[in-house]
Amino acid sequence: MYNLARSLLFKFDPEVSHELSLDVLGASSRLGLTSLYAHDEAATPVNVMGIDFPNAVGLAAGLDKNADAFEALGALGFGFVEVGTVTPKGQSGNPKPRLFRLPEHEAIINRMGFNNKGVDHMVARIRKHNYKGVLGVNIGKNLATSVEGAAADYLACLEQVIPYADYITANISSPNTPGLRSLQFGDSLAELIAPLVEAKQRYADEHGRRVPLAVKIAPDMSDDEIKMVADTLVDQKIDAIIATNTTLSRTAVIGHEHANEAGGLSGAPVRDASTHVVRVLCDHLQNELPVIGVGGILSGADAVEKMQAGAKLVQIYSGFIYRGPELVHESITATDGYIRENHLGK
Ligand SMILES: Cc1cc2nc3c(=O)[nH]c(=O)nc-3n(C[C@H](O)[C@H](O)[C@H](O)COP(=O)(O)O)c2cc1C
Repeated sequence: MYNLARSLLFKFDPEVSHELSLDVLGASSRLGLTSLYAHDEAATPVNVMGIDFPNAVGLAAGLDKNADAFEALGALGFGFVEVGTVTPKGQSGNPKPRLFRLPEHEAIINRMGFNNKGVDHMVARIRKHNYKGVLGVNIGKNLATSVEGAAADYLACLEQVIPYADYITANISSPNTPGLRSLQFGDSLAELIAPLVEAKQRYADEHGRRVPLAVKIAPDMSDDEIKMVADTLVDQKIDAIIATNTTLSRTAVIGHEHANEAGGLSGAPVRDASTHVVRVLCDHLQNELPVIGVGGILSGADAVEKMQAGAKLVQIYSGFIYRGPELVHESITATDGYIRENHLGK
C-alpha cells in the first residue's frame, strides 16, 4: 500500500509531497478516521527518563514541525512522536528548494532552517490531544536571535510547552541555523542548559510533575568531543541524549547530483556515524544517562544495531519517508525481540 502511495508522492517535489502527506494525515485525525490505518503493535513497554514508552520506536523531530499531524502519525504505531523543532516566533526557514531526495542512497539532504509556525501555534495544537503514546517537543532558537542570546529562546519555548509535553528536547545540532552547533561545546553548552534545567525543576516543584529534558547532538564530532559533551550533560543533570542529527559529511554520496547541496545529510549514509556516536556515548556514560539512537534506520536490524550499541530507544525519520509504516512495524517487532531477550523491558 505504502509502495503505491510512495511512487505517487515521489513524483512531486519533495516538499510538496511532504506537506500533502501531513495534510492528509492531519485531516484524517480531525475527522476521526485514524482507525482506518491505526496499528497497535503489542510490545513490552520500556521505562526511560522515568516515562513508560509503549514501544521503543519513535518518530524523530522535523517531520511534524508544528504538531499538526502527530496523533495520526502516532496511530501508525510509533511509541513516541517528537514534534518540532519549534522556535519562539514563527519563521519561514531557508529559501526553496531546500529538501532533496537521494533515493539511490536511501538518503535526504535538507536545509529547511527551522521553518515553523512558532510556539503559540504548537501550544494550541498540543494542549488537548488524544495521542496515547509519548509526546516529545523539540525546541530551538529563531534565526534572528544571536547565538549569544540563544538561551532566552530555548527558555521561552520550554516554559510554554512544558505543561503539555511528556519530555522536551533542546536541539543544538541542526546544521542549518548558523552557529547553532557551536552551542555543543565548552562553556556555551553549560550556559545554555543550566537555565533550562532550573526552569524544569521550578515547574516540578510548583506542579508536582517532572518533565525530562533531552539534548540532541550532531554526528560530526571526534570521540573526545563526544565524551566532553557527555560529561557536561551529566554535570548539568539532563535526562537523556539524542544521537544524532544529520551529518555535514558527503563522503558516502560523492558524485550524486545533489551531493553538493548545502545542508544535513540523513538516511542510510549517516547510519554508521550515528551508531558510532551512540556507542562512544554509552561506553563512556556507563548507564549514567540514557541515549536515544537515531540516524539511518532503514530496517528492523538497523534499529536493533542502535540498541546493541547501547541506545534505550530509537527514532526514525528518513527511513519512514522511504519505507513508510512497514518500517515502523518491523522496527517495533525487532527491537521488542531484543528487549525481551535482554530483559530490558519494564
Ligand atoms: C527534512 C528533515 C528535517 C529535519 N528537521 C529536524 C528538526 O527540525 N529538528 C531536529 O532535531 N531534527 C531534524 N531532522 C533530523 C532528524 O530528526 C534525524 O535526527 C536525522 O534525520 C537522522 O535520522 P534519519 O537518518 O532516520 O533521518 C530533520 C531531518 C530531515 C530529513
